[in-house]
Amino acid sequence: MIPISCINSLEGNPFEANRSVVNSSEVSGTETIVTASSECCKLIQLSDLHLQALAQQRYRDRDVEQQLLAVLGHIEQQHPDLDGLLLSGDLVHQGHSAAYRRLARYLERFDKPWYWIPGNHDSFQTMQRIRPAQPLNLRCNGWSIVLLDSTSAADGQGSGSLAESELRRLEEQLQICQKLKAGLLVVLHHNPMSVQSDWQDRIMLANADRLWALLGRYKVQVTILFGHVHQQWDLTQANVRVLGCPSTAVQFVMAQEQLLVETEGATALPGYRWLKLFSAGSNQEPNQQTNSTTANRFALETGVEWVCVD
Ligand SMILES: [Fe+2]
Repeated sequence: MIPISCINSLEGNPFEANRSVVNSSEVSGTETIVTASSECCKLIQLSDLHLQALAQQRYRDRDVEQQLLAVLGHIEQQHPDLDGLLLSGDLVHQGHSAAYRRLARYLERFDKPWYWIPGNHDSFQTMQRIRPAQPLNLRCNGWSIVLLDSTSAADGQGSGSLAESELRRLEEQLQICQKLKAGLLVVLHHNPMSVQSDWQDRIMLANADRLWALLGRYKVQVTILFGHVHQQWDLTQANVRVLGCPSTAVQFVMAQEQLLVETEGATALPGYRWLKLFSAGSNQEPNQQTNSTTANRFALETGVEWVCVD
C-alpha cells in the first residue's frame, strides 16, 4: 500500500486564505515527503452524492443513500487495494450536518484516508466543523494532489469560482511540482472547461481563464479531476487531462440545453472513478481498455465503474 502523506496539515479553516504551506525550499530535502515504495497509488473519486437531511429522503426520485451504500460496497469488493478516497463536492444536497456525519461514518469502513471538498450544494462551514483539520495538499507516489474550493463568489445558480487564496495555493503547488519534477493532480468541484451543454456551461468554473493562465506558466504535468456535471468525461486542454466523475446519485444527459436526468442504459446508474498514479519512470505498459497515459513521464490509469443497485 502506498502511504498518502500530507505536505501540510492545516488546522482551523482548511481553505483559509494565506495559510502557510510548505514552500519549495522547505520541501526539498525534508522528511515531509514520503517516497512511495510500491508500483502505484490507487485513488477512488466520488462526486455529487446529494445526500438528504434524512437517510430515507429521495433526490430526483432516487434513493441516493442506498445508492451510495451500494457504491461503497462495490468499491470494497473491487478495489481492496485502494489507498485513499477523494470526494469532489455536492456531498449533501442542502448542507445538513446529519448527512455529513452519516457520510463520514460510512467512509470509516475503508480504514483509509479520505478527503472532501465542497460543491455548490454544500455547507462549507458545516464540513469544517465536522473535519476541522483536513489536509489540502497531499503527496502520493511522486505526485502532488491539491484540493481546491471552487465555491467562491457563487452566483446562486450553481456556478462558483476559485478565490485568490485558492489560486495562490495552486501556484505554490505548481512551483513545488516544477522544482521536484512531480506530477500534479488538481481536484475541484466545478468543470474548468465546456461540457457542451448550454445550461451546464453557464454554471461552470466562472474564472476558468485564471486557472488556465496559471497552469500555462509552469512546466508541470497536470491532471484535473472535477464533479458538478454528473457525467463521465475524459477531455484534454492545453496538454492537461481533464476528467469528469459521474455522480453516485443521478447522471445528467449530455449535450442538452436544459437539465435532463439520464434514465436508461448503464450511464443511468450510480458511478465513480478510480485512478492509479504511477511514479516517474514506471514500466507501466499502455492499456487501451483503461485509457492509460504513458506518453507523459508520470503514467495515469483511470476508469469509471457503474454500479447496479438492487
Ligand atoms: Fe451535483
